[in-house]
Amino acid sequence: MSRIFVIGNEKGGAGKTTCAMHLISALLDQGYKVASIDTDLRQLSLTNYIKNRELYNQKNPDKLVPQPCHFYLTTKGENDEDANLLLFEQKLCDARNLAEYIVIDTPGYHSLLSKLAHSYADTIITPINDSFMDLDVMAKINPDDLSIISPSIYSQMVWEQKMQRAARDQSSIEWIVMRNRLSQIDAVNKRNVGYVLEKLAKRISFKIAPGFSERVVFRELFLYGLTLLDLTTANLGKPLALSHVAARQELRDFLTCLGI
Ligand SMILES: Nc1ncnc2c1ncn2[C@@H]1O[C@H](COP(=O)(O)OP(=O)(O)OP(=O)(O)O)[C@@H](O)[C@H]1O
Ligand SMILES: [Mg+2]
Repeated sequence: MSRIFVIGNEKGGAGKTTCAMHLISALLDQGYKVASIDTDLRQLSLTNYIKNRELYNQKNPDKLVPQPCHFYLTTKGENDEDANLLLFEQKLCDARNLAEYIVIDTPGYHSLLSKLAHSYADTIITPINDSFMDLDVMAKINPDDLSIISPSIYSQMVWEQKMQRAARDQSSIEWIVMRNRLSQIDAVNKRNVGYVLEKLAKRISFKIAPGFSERVVFRELFLYGLTLLDLTTANLGKPLALSHVAARQELRDFLTCLGI
């Protein structure tokens, strides 16, 4: 049985693709057979990340980095939702036949395909930027006392997919939220978001994983198809800096929380 991670958040730019690629790289690093599926039909960011990784390997045959078996759905069928749902289930079936772990990246918008992908998760990972505007897709918050008024659109969608999953095969979905692009200084906003997330975690049942700080390295690596875990062996063309080492430690803490 493969374990399926779905990286999701309806809010765009939360760090889903960055998180997906680092998770894939971590699992490959540990010698697992990994498949990845890109369900972001328009951007195909994970697919392009993996293509950049392939180009890196072609240019650096002496310092190869491991690759997942990657599947993507093409934009040709963008407007044919039924065809996409069917295609997704076929690709998932193929991925299950060859991988111990499957990592699925989803788009930053609501779609039937994204909902279906969520319903197959063993673990949903939701990166969230440390901002109340980003938190708005998870819960409505009272600005006067930071109390939770109600769960919001994305939390409701995850809840519905947990029900779908239970109805399909009586299994449960674990939900993990990770704070991304954390400020490295202690600001009131950071503390307040942390406080609300802790309360929300108890109310709607998710686990909070240690997150990633705001770091330039995450933005540079895409072009080379590399991740923080590749930096000791791969050729990035510059020495490993202290911030890279600190970022790698954050990544390790995150992976430990996932049980990897
Ligand atoms: N911890 C971080 N520090 C700095 N930049 C980051 C960090 N995480 C992600 N980024 C940058 O933020 C942007 C959004 O990240 P990413 O594309 O992974 O988000 P996404 O949720 O997949 O977006 P979309 O919803 O559009 O698919 C990218 O430019 C990425 O390089
Ligand atoms: Mg993305």
